[in-house]
Amino acid sequence: MNKIKIGIIGTGYMGGTHAQLYARNERTTVHAIYDVRPERMESVSRQTGAKCMENGEQVIESCDAIVVTTPNVRHTELTVAAANAGKAVFSEKPMATNLTEAEAVLEASKNAKVFQVGHNRRFAPVYVKLKELISKDKIHSAHIKMNRGELQNPEWTGDTDVTGGFLYETTVHMFDMIRFQFGEIEELIAIGSSQTYPEIDNFSVLLKFKSGLHATFCSAADASWIFPFERLEAFCEHRTIMTQEMENLTDSRGSDPNFEYFSWHLLSKEERWGYAQENEAFIDAVLNGTEPLVTALDGYKSVELVEACYKAVKTGERIKFE
Ligand SMILES: NC(=O)c1ccc[n+]([C@@H]2O[C@H](COP(=O)([O-])OP(=O)(O)OC[C@H]3O[C@@H](n4cnc5c(N)ncnc54)[C@H](O)[C@@H]3O)[C@@H](O)[C@H]2O)c1
Repeated sequence: MNKIKIGIIGTGYMGGTHAQLYARNERTTVHAIYDVRPERMESVSRQTGAKCMENGEQVIESCDAIVVTTPNVRHTELTVAAANAGKAVFSEKPMATNLTEAEAVLEASKNAKVFQVGHNRRFAPVYVKLKELISKDKIHSAHIKMNRGELQNPEWTGDTDVTGGFLYETTVHMFDMIRFQFGEIEELIAIGSSQTYPEIDNFSVLLKFKSGLHATFCSAADASWIFPFERLEAFCEHRTIMTQEMENLTDSRGSDPNFEYFSWHLLSKEERWGYAQENEAFIDAVLNGTEPLVTALDGYKSVELVEACYKAVKTGERIKFE
């Protein structure tokens, strides 16, 4: 079988992570890469044998599947070009950093062989387990947090001209996750403030889902990295199911002092965070022509939620979705 030729544009932390996984995979080869910083591209080339190219277009032309792992605002130009060239495209999150660009990507994705967005948490075992458990019960309400300790690393994470804003950098993951777990959102209200950074860096959001479920969601950019910086608690009838980062899940019922505890701490980070599984799913979609688990429409919906949240904070409006 011919191996799928993977091209990677942006070979920093995430580009390097995907490159290592694809280089080890028997179904793929990392064929070509490009980064504006040659030393980063050369380092990944030494590790994977990939050819260093002079620009992103050359990567798109020479490969079957294009992985775009540049900083946030630099995704759409590349993903649209790759999609319009009929390639399979993997876009790191966020798919776009405004609705106009998200619509353009959604449209271009129709020309792609496959279009998958890097909301890796859908593949993380902890969230797969959570979905399995809550699909067998009725969730009444939920409490969610997704914090960061700083907006300093990588150096561009505090620059809204590059991230599109904190919600696009970090919180967008959880907007996708709550849709994945609880379904579509009917309305939201949000309060935010700028505390440590020159952008809105603390958010408190109240959500109502079409299912009737309601949830609180807080996200702070300047909290700390204390464990767990990410937690989802789902409340059912006399039952709480709680996740802690991608590490573990506790399922506790009624007044029973016993609880079930699941832990994935022995897995590699790539498996615990779902990076390995999302890449396998992408390869499966390329080979079989099947729809990926995280589509361009999912990417669009997460951008829509981020935009709604900023609008709710700025205007005080209650935002309703069709
Ligand atoms: N899914 C996840 O869990 C996860 C985790 C971290 C980052 N990310 C996302 O991955 C993307 C990359 O983040 P990172 O942490 O790897 O950042 P990074 O700074 O480590 O890497 C980005 C790389 O892109 C290069 N670059 C910038 N503009 C370019 C261009 N026009 N063409 C080619 N290369 C270019 C930079 O030189 C850098 O090497 C971001 O969109 C980020 O939001 C996702």
